[in-house]
Amino acid sequence: MSLLRACITSLFVLFVTAVYANTEKAIFIALSASDLPDSFASLRLEELTPTHPSLRKSLPVAFPTDQQPHGTESWYLLADLREGQRHEVRICWTAIQPTTFDLDVFSLTDIQRNSELSTNIFQYSESQTRTRRPISSDSPGNTLLMRVWSAADFYTTNRTLMQSPPSVDVDIILDPYIFNVFPKSLLPTAAYIICLAICSWYGSGIVWSKLRTTITSREKTHRE
Ligand SMILES: *[C@@H]1O[C@H](CO)[C@@H](O)[C@H](O)[C@H]1NC(C)=O
Repeated sequence: MSLLRACITSLFVLFVTAVYANTEKAIFIALSASDLPDSFASLRLEELTPTHPSLRKSLPVAFPTDQQPHGTESWYLLADLREGQRHEVRICWTAIQPTTFDLDVFSLTDIQRNSELSTNIFQYSESQTRTRRPISSDSPGNTLLMRVWSAADFYTTNRTLMQSPPSVDVDIILDPYIFNVFPKSLLPTAAYIICLAICSWYGSGIVWSKLRTTITSREKTHRE
């Protein structure tokens, strides 16, 4: 009985800790190749690829204003994507830093058609100090651009915090889908659940047969 109670308590604790994080995500399918404009090759953006699928960042945030209704903007490259494959990109942050994130994924063609977007990208790229490897012109269509909007979402009487909200620590994760239906990073969880299901199937069988032998032997002694 105490074992059962311990099991229930630890399960409960598992669920409770899982609640202290937030996630925002975008799902997209990588498009076919198109010509890469020269101006994009020099962009200084951080990139996520299937081989380097996660970034840990401290993102600056701002309260929404009329000029910036979604807060501050940052841009990333999603590169080396497999054509036609479904991907998911997630941003995760702790719930003790209340923030609203908006993720949008654009193709290079979208950006070229929209001068406002390209202005924003080049402005952001200028503000970045790091240099990155140039976008390879062999697979330009498999490169997408992601915009992240981050807006502070809290209220406090502390004026310092209201004037300059602290940066938010985030993980940005690129996750390809297996056969376009199942996120790759969920595979260990799925394996765990399947394993648990198989073990409990056999476990309940053993318990049932034990119970049955006990009951029949008791009936026998009762009759005698
Ligand atoms: C306001 O917040 C800042 C940053 O967390 C802190 O250093 C400061 O002591 C706070 N001020 C008050 C009056 O609580």
